[in-house]
Amino acid sequence: MKKLLFVIFLLTLVSTNQLLAQNNSMDNKIKEIIKQLTLKEKLDMCHAQSKFSSKGVARLGIPEIWMSDGPHGVRAEIAWDSWQHAGWTNDSCTAFPALTCLAATFNPKLSYKYGKAIGEEARYRKKDILLGPGVNIYRTPLNGRNFEYMGEDPYLASKMVVPYIHGVQENGVAACVKHYVLNNQEHWRDHINVELSDRALYEIYLPAFKAAVQEGKVWSIMGAYNQVRGQYCCHNELLVNKILKGDWGFDGVLVTDWGATHDTKEAALFGLDIEMGTGTDGLTSSLKNAYDNYFMANPLLKMIQSGEIDESVVDEKVERILRLMFRTNMNSSRPNGIMNSQEHFDVAREIAQEGIVLLKNEANFFPIDPEKVQTIAIIGENATKMMTVGGGSSELKTIHEISPLEGIHKRFKNANILHAMGYASGPSVYGRVIDSKLNADSLKNEALEIASKADIVLFVGGLNKNHHQDCEGDDRKHFSLPFGQDDLISRILKVNKNTAVILISGNAVEMPWVDQVKGIVQTWYLGSETGHAIADVLSGDVNPSGKLPFSFPVKLEDNAAHAFDELSYPGDGTNQEYKEDILVGYRWHDTKKIKPLYAFGFGLSYTSFQIQNVKSNKISYKKEDTIIISCEIKNTGKIKGNEVIQVYVNDVKASVLRPLKELKAFKKVKLNPKETKSITLKIPTKELAFFDDSIMDWKLESGQYKLMIGMSSQDIKKIISVKVK
Ligand code: GLC
Repeated sequence: MKKLLFVIFLLTLVSTNQLLAQNNSMDNKIKEIIKQLTLKEKLDMCHAQSKFSSKGVARLGIPEIWMSDGPHGVRAEIAWDSWQHAGWTNDSCTAFPALTCLAATFNPKLSYKYGKAIGEEARYRKKDILLGPGVNIYRTPLNGRNFEYMGEDPYLASKMVVPYIHGVQENGVAACVKHYVLNNQEHWRDHINVELSDRALYEIYLPAFKAAVQEGKVWSIMGAYNQVRGQYCCHNELLVNKILKGDWGFDGVLVTDWGATHDTKEAALFGLDIEMGTGTDGLTSSLKNAYDNYFMANPLLKMIQSGEIDESVVDEKVERILRLMFRTNMNSSRPNGIMNSQEHFDVAREIAQEGIVLLKNEANFFPIDPEKVQTIAIIGENATKMMTVGGGSSELKTIHEISPLEGIHKRFKNANILHAMGYASGPSVYGRVIDSKLNADSLKNEALEIASKADIVLFVGGLNKNHHQDCEGDDRKHFSLPFGQDDLISRILKVNKNTAVILISGNAVEMPWVDQVKGIVQTWYLGSETGHAIADVLSGDVNPSGKLPFSFPVKLEDNAAHAFDELSYPGDGTNQEYKEDILVGYRWHDTKKIKPLYAFGFGLSYTSFQIQNVKSNKISYKKEDTIIISCEIKNTGKIKGNEVIQVYVNDVKASVLRPLKELKAFKKVKLNPKETKSITLKIPTKELAFFDDSIMDWKLESGQYKLMIGMSSQDIKKIISVKVK
């Protein structure tokens, strides 16, 4: 045995050395290359040459870098020097579910499958950087881009972003985690200056980016548009030089958001590596050399030639860019890509199935028996509206997008399906032209007509990807459902009580009808397989297991960001202050005792579960210990299903304000009927620390802590008291 162990030890020694040698040889190669580059060639690598590419060095056979959106699929090819589509015919893709849906699965394994599949498509499209995923924290339900992110909890976002990055980068494509940092709204996003405490910054808004760098080993990060403490994110001394590249040791490339560079000297000195999307100042009429007007082009060249900036500053940028190239387009062993395979559509469907959240199911309204002959009325524009188009840079040109109506038609063959649009979001763009003779009243009457004839009414509504909805560039103006949906739902309920609501959205919405409807399903934006996945769940083919990645407040002012004045949201046009501090999402609801309509981590199932024998491995822990919680989870119902066991922690006597509970572990368990499984959940004791701004470091206080084990942040089944020494 001893001999075997020694051999294994030698082997690891060799492989570690090999790895180190590999890195050393890469670093040496990089240094060699930099020696041969002219200053102009170096600077050309540090900024765009077109809308979505930056220069290589043709003289030396160093390739260009090609980038593409987005987080949910590979965007259609964009023209060289405008936002128009290039008009290709071979750039349709698989549209995967929006990242809120992925977060709602609480299943890191699916996150890896997601990243691998989307990475294969980016590789096939010869993209070296995929501009996603986004992990900005869900602070307000009005933010136009929440659908692209992973919810309100830093721990959930941290756990879900890492496997996605691994999956993408296995293809030799760089993920580009965005938008670093505090881009938590779209209103005034290009300039608003965010002020917040160090505790909120480190405990809420940085963790997912830190996990992306330190565990995900992400190869690129995208700086955000906004300012933080008076400096633009893309060249921010604290965020980039100190935290990202200093404390966290990020060895990749910082790319700007498109047009987010504002100053040459700051960009040079505060860590910007590649400047994209800058609208030049119009000094040049021809687009040909507009790129030479970029902040990091001629202006920086002049500063170096005058000696104001040292050339070594550019060498450091080029070193990072070459390292990204050795990992991507100069990595000869990277795999070829795959586009639109059945496997990719299957992955999209699986994630959609596991991300759908069942919020209400009175008297087992769901599942609906597909064998039963009955009349089902499908009402609502979202039953047929394309959602893969629109929404901004995450828009997709997909091979197919199965609508909810189509999915229901295909699965409920024995039912008599009636359909009425019910309401229209206006003659707006994105995949639909409304016939002008259709007006609100005729749409409403048509809907009420079919509702009165149906056994079951499914209202398919929610938000959409239009401007001021779930869309980049600005925020929603109201928390309530738009386009007269609330009024229509209340009228439908008067003619047919047997009504349920299917919400398609990436944000929480107000639900004045919540007590009157029989069922509510939150189905997110699900991409190509939307209709199939919704029908899978409505029919019972799939037992829903999604959990909310963010709280649904009853009314807007119950949300932390809206509990203060306009400085808290949306800001005064120049500055904004995150006055709720660390109390974001359920941290606010639980600590302030404001009951949410639906809680973070909540989601129903068609079966039921029981947790028993909850134990911790010890009753007191030292900092270097790992808390191990074991329990048994039983499926007490008649059909198979998944449950997500969640562990929240409370520091009973903290010396500072701490949330009533913070998610510190979760695990998804698949169980057959009557099956019991024993599971363990692990929490490194040091993760119970809070960020102490008096020492600017994490601090673990000794004393009593509560471990709260349950199926949502509000449904705690067992509390274990432990001590930290
Ligand atoms: C957009 C978005 C960013 C996107 C980039 C390129 O403004 O903020 O997420 O990747 O520009 O389209």
